[in-house]
Amino acid sequence: MKHLTSTKKFDLPYILNLFQLTDSLIKKPEPTLLSGKIMASCFFEPSTRTRLSFETAMLKLGGQTTSFVDYKSSSSSKGESLKDTIKVISSYVDVIVLRHPKEGASTLATEVSKVPIINAGDGLNQHPTQTLLDLYTIHQCHNKLEGLHVALCGDLKHGRTVHSFVKIASLFGMRLYFVSPKELEMPNDLIKDLRQQNVKFTIHQNLSEILPKLDILYMTRIQKERFQSNLSSHTYPSHHIVTKKLLKDAKSNLKILHPLPRNDEIHPEVDDTPFACYFQQAENGLYVRQAILALTLGTST
Ligand code: CP
Repeated sequence: MKHLTSTKKFDLPYILNLFQLTDSLIKKPEPTLLSGKIMASCFFEPSTRTRLSFETAMLKLGGQTTSFVDYKSSSSSKGESLKDTIKVISSYVDVIVLRHPKEGASTLATEVSKVPIINAGDGLNQHPTQTLLDLYTIHQCHNKLEGLHVALCGDLKHGRTVHSFVKIASLFGMRLYFVSPKELEMPNDLIKDLRQQNVKFTIHQNLSEILPKLDILYMTRIQKERFQSNLSSHTYPSHHIVTKKLLKDAKSNLKILHPLPRNDEIHPEVDDTPFACYFQQAENGLYVRQAILALTLGTST
């Protein structure tokens, strides 16, 4: 079964095949490709982009979707375990898209599911489909992935999108820069993994000192909902906020990505500059997730 739980499982052929299929679905929509298939979207945390883009992707390919209105209206609020919930839902549908606050929830779900599980975010751990659309967007902007200078900036401690991203950076020989307040640095286990894979990276607290070197600036918001109480009053440092003034030293082809939602970390004045790529990135979610569903459900090879 084609579960999609972690970026660690991706290899170059899968990613290139996915990009080709995405391009093809943009050029030539396939409104009946998944007809007769049903996707359950099981979101135990809030979402706008991931849930709606997956559901729209399914509809655009001729499939159907089902879900609970919100997780409080599911029987998990009566104490049902995730395993029991997934076991039952998997007997109704062809694929399950799961977002859950617990790390490893998707892997747990694969132990009982009769159908493919797609991880739409599990706690602090991973958001692999976000990484696929991030890579697709970067490729669209720079026409390559290899050797790019990429800064990840913001809450690197709690951000699952950046955790997913760095897990496959070694495939593309990217040069990484981690920019965050000291208390929100990339977790030690990921740093250790990157060293083992010989990924080139450096750690910074000042965005402006590295900005002129960058091809991609990947911003993230501070994930206050995941904070322990001793960090709860933390605010975004003003020198990490992206403004037109900060960007005056940027390369002309720098592109700024953000998984969204944003808070204050990118000033809206940046939205109309050629650097801004985050809304294009969010739109790509719809196309890349169509390709993910087609490959997962075995209707494309
Ligand atoms: N990027 C992302 O995961 O957004 P949502 O939380 O709105 O799904």
